[in-house]
Amino acid sequence: MASDLSKITCIEDLRAVAQRRVPRMFYDYADSGSYTQGTYRANEDDFQRIKLRQRVAVNLSGRSTRSTMLGQEVAMPVAIAPTGLTGMQHADGEILGARAAKAFGIPFTLSTMGICSLEDVAEATDRHPFWFQLYVMRDRSFVENLIERAQAANCSALQITLDLQILGQRHKDIKNGLSTPPRPTLTNLLNLATKPRWCLGMLGTKRRSFGNIVGHAKGVSDLSSLSSWTAEQFDPQLSWADVEWIKKRWGGKIILKGIMDAEDARLAVDSGADALVVSNHGGRQLDGAPSSIAALPSIACAVGKNIEIWMDGGIRSGQDVLKARALGAQGTLIGRSFLYGLGAYGQPGVTRALEIIQRELDISMAFCGRTQIDQVDRSILVPGSYPLPFPAA
Ligand SMILES: Cc1cc2nc3c(=O)[nH]c(=O)nc-3n(C[C@H](O)[C@H](O)[C@H](O)COP(=O)(O)O)c2cc1C
Repeated sequence: MASDLSKITCIEDLRAVAQRRVPRMFYDYADSGSYTQGTYRANEDDFQRIKLRQRVAVNLSGRSTRSTMLGQEVAMPVAIAPTGLTGMQHADGEILGARAAKAFGIPFTLSTMGICSLEDVAEATDRHPFWFQLYVMRDRSFVENLIERAQAANCSALQITLDLQILGQRHKDIKNGLSTPPRPTLTNLLNLATKPRWCLGMLGTKRRSFGNIVGHAKGVSDLSSLSSWTAEQFDPQLSWADVEWIKKRWGGKIILKGIMDAEDARLAVDSGADALVVSNHGGRQLDGAPSSIAALPSIACAVGKNIEIWMDGGIRSGQDVLKARALGAQGTLIGRSFLYGLGAYGQPGVTRALEIIQRELDISMAFCGRTQIDQVDRSILVPGSYPLPFPAA
């Protein structure tokens, strides 16, 4: 393993190994976007268009990537994004991700649709605080119960995802038979036979279903009852009144995820949230939406002084984190960069992904003549190469 990792020098290397090691239906689940995948691709491509200004003969000693997110000190302005089914990329994936994040000194977010439960993650990290991502389900008593469980698990912030009232379609998931429970087609079984390491890991864990749901939602006791329950539960009637209701029940820090419009950002500020995440769900929901990095300047310009702004979508390097910071994101979240590390090598793979991003961030910041994250702003970008706020509609 150690010798394997010494040859891993960038996130793309981790992606390629994950593609070999993770069964196709779960690898494709991570590495795809909705419909034409236009927004998914734009999330990465738009970062490439932004150019950094190289500066020279600046004293580069005493550099640090340390920063804060929600007032909490972080080793770099990066947190692990909530991702569903993470325990299917690698056995016990959420636990391994949370442990790697804790050791590195960045926040970890557990998804409502995680395989490991709130209780599993709390226990495996000695009750180190983590964030919980909440999907607002129709069954509000289930939501209330989740909030109480997140409090009991010592979660330090609740991340409410607002962009999944309805589901965008990913063609590959349908073709691969990715449903709950996964359909054991002959192709799936043949593909599993080529992933012995993954299979062994799965045989060694009891966590193979949605840990936050099974046994906690009315009428859900096994995988087949779970299937119909989840299909019905995403709430198309979700509104800002629900955000207010959740905020009261939770009583702690609130992060709103899935904001892509300046008008919604103003409503997020009015709701009293502590942070918002400019996010198009990694290009998995509205295909045709702009990339997150293109949407960021309008939102930073509209509300940047009144709420902490973060972004996610397409971050595959420290240079991307630097560019996001320059355009007004106090922090960033990583989804796939985390999942590729996890799928490739488990916890050491996640740690490797974080080390790569931190090192790239440090070096690129230095080339721009800055030694501290707080010194990073738009002046490190080449004028004309970066997105500007959209003109008001
Ligand atoms: C496989 C996968 C599963 C995801 N599941 C969730 C989820 O359960 N809840 C959520 O709020 N966002 C979810 N997301 C979106 C991520 O939180 C994040 O917004 C996105 O991955 C960022 O883009 P990136 O993957 O390019 O970094 C998921 C993303 C992926 C790739």
